[in-house]
Amino acid sequence: MHNRFVSIEGIEGAGKTTAMRTLSKWVSERGGAVVETREPGGTALGEELRAILLNHRDEGMSALSEVLLMFAARAEHIERVIQPALNAGQWVISDRFNDASIAYQGAGRGLGLERVEALAHWLNTGLQPDLTLWLDVPVATGLARAAGRSSPDRFEAEQSAFFESVRSGYQWLATRYPQRIVRIDASLDPAEVNQAICAVLEAHCVD
Ligand code: TMP
Repeated sequence: MHNRFVSIEGIEGAGKTTAMRTLSKWVSERGGAVVETREPGGTALGEELRAILLNHRDEGMSALSEVLLMFAARAEHIERVIQPALNAGQWVISDRFNDASIAYQGAGRGLGLERVEALAHWLNTGLQPDLTLWLDVPVATGLARAAGRSSPDRFEAEQSAFFESVRSGYQWLATRYPQRIVRIDASLDPAEVNQAICAVLEAHCVD
């Protein structure tokens, strides 16, 4: 079984953390070495940018600054973590990648799906996940699950309408890239979601 680059996507409260555990365990049990990482973040500079992006700011942040900082963190992440790990034969499982910028900044912030996608193409020179798991939940379900966590960051503090747009951005991506993006019904109970994820891995990642 050769190594792969897998990303996990979805709105807040979709269950990405649990999915990461399931994926990692599945790969490890089959003898693969796994690098678990996240965006924005995954490097020292990336984590600093994450703090800037997630913290509340009195003066707010322009959507363009936001998307460019997301991609600055990603450029660092690709060069220092993702590409070296893939070159070394390791699996990379990333909590979010390009699709998050297309859904959150392209759809959520209204920058335009294709415009942000063009930026991704320009910056990533062809690096795409082999497989993307889109954990899809209705916005009300996701937000109710996320509500119990620590005080909301700059994104979590957004209204439902923002997350409806983000979700529609993911739907647009899933329709456009049906070979790469697999939608998982993440409103099911955790055991069923787990089972669905393992079935997708069996179908896509066993050679
Ligand atoms: P996380 O808490 O799910 O790890 O992600 C942090 C937040 O950053 C989340 O609300 C989604 C947002 N985000 C974007 O808006 N664009 C991006 O490109 C990425 C990677 C994350």
